[in-house]
Amino acid sequence: MEGKKERLDRILVLNHIGSRKEAGKLIRSGQVTVNGQMVRRPEEKADPDRDRICVKGEALPGGRYLYLMMNKPAGVLSAARDPRAQTVVDLLPGRWQRPGIFPAGRLDKDTTGFLVLTDDGEFAHRMLSPKSHVDKVYLAQLDRPVDGEDQRQFAQGMDLGDFVSLPAKMEPAAPDGCTARVTLHEGKFHQVKRMFEKCGKQVVALKRIQIGIVNLDENLAAGEARELTKEERDQLFLHDFC
Ligand code: URA
Repeated sequence: MEGKKERLDRILVLNHIGSRKEAGKLIRSGQVTVNGQMVRRPEEKADPDRDRICVKGEALPGGRYLYLMMNKPAGVLSAARDPRAQTVVDLLPGRWQRPGIFPAGRLDKDTTGFLVLTDDGEFAHRMLSPKSHVDKVYLAQLDRPVDGEDQRQFAQGMDLGDFVSLPAKMEPAAPDGCTARVTLHEGKFHQVKRMFEKCGKQVVALKRIQIGIVNLDENLAAGEARELTKEERDQLFLHDFC
């Protein structure tokens, strides 16, 4: 739907504002604006990607799909729904709890930081595809300082039994060496923890701070989310090292 005009009432329905009838009522009653202008005809067309559409003064997310950056807290599952545990989708405000919204990628329950949530299946598939090599950057706290030999092992790629990791970058991020910044081109299950374990170190806390070249927004408190901009969505697929 990028760059395509749609009827205004249909755009409201796609954004889960209400039924077609309810959307028409809202529009006719003057509660909907397009680029600051009140529009009173439900059949009027707008481009949800380019036009700023507001309902009762609140802007709709641009486009059909929702793309969110969350600062995941510890203790919450990276899943859409779970009968027993709280999930990242449970943390979203009601207006974003759309059918089909799910995390594009997983962080362990105890891992914190940058998680993308979307209802755009194709986008999520592209992000998760091993072919995309989307970079992920983590800050790991360790029980012991890292050394040059650990860095060499990360840079070489490690045989972890069920797979051999791609070369990864690891560098100390604090003078005591017990915090390290790790950049991976892939995202296998427990990968950071397993790579450090192979070096004889335990990860005591792990936070994802960057995907592609997009940094986790420091203004997001744990559990909060905000929409990704179009530019950020593209930057998720860019690399800043080879
Ligand atoms: N690597 C891990 O070990 N855990 C995560 O949650 C993410 C990457």
